Amino acid sequence: MKLFLDTAEIDEIRTVNAWGVLDGVTTNPTLFSKIKGKTYDEVLQEICAINKGPVSAEVVADDVDGMLKEGRHFAKLADNIYVKVAMSENGLEAMNRFRAEGIKTNCTLIFSANQGLLAAKAGASLLSPFVGRLDDINEEGMNVIRELVEIITIHEIEAEVLTASVRHPRHVTDAALAGSHIATLPFKVFQQMVHHPLTDKGIVQFKSDWETARAAIAANAKG
Ligand code: G3P
Repeated sequence: MKLFLDTAEIDEIRTVNAWGVLDGVTTNPTLFSKIKGKTYDEVLQEICAINKGPVSAEVVADDVDGMLKEGRHFAKLADNIYVKVAMSENGLEAMNRFRAEGIKTNCTLIFSANQGLLAAKAGASLLSPFVGRLDDINEEGMNVIRELVEIITIHEIEAEVLTASVRHPRHVTDAALAGSHIATLPFKVFQQMVHHPLTDKGIVQFKSDWETARAAIAANAKG
């Protein structure tokens, strides 16, 4: 499963990219609103220069012409831009038009397998169900991932399922087991995946034992 970072923070992207585990980046207006002193275009260009995987840039217009204008602009910023379009009737039309122009899209705000199926048929390359927000309203977000992955597989549809609204490491494991092609994670979840209390404790113990052994060797050598 590919792992994307769900952020517009350049430092976070540099960090995870340096680990060698970063396959792409997703941004949205909420994530961009946390960045101060840069335009969205500037942030996107910086991200695309760091990571060559898909980088999602979200349109905010709700009419088709507006979506097309914003999306065409983003697509010119870098070759690895995917235009993120919210699920809607106009969104479907815009994704269909983007497909005709060779512009790749990520359909966002998907909350059912049927929405995902429609987005795939309209030409979206990436289908983004939001698991955390479904869990928030007492639904089982991961069910949408399971159903959509199965539909994509049975019907040999080219689109990839991108598990979004990931809130904790368990979501990542479950998405991987469900066959999700991609999951996009906040930086904090990447960090949580790295750490385990027994790993961290073990590192401290190994270091301490090493120092003890070195001290003993040094004492022996002195004689
Ligand atoms: O990728 C979509 C994601 O940013 C939404 O996450 O936690 O706001 O539901 P959340």
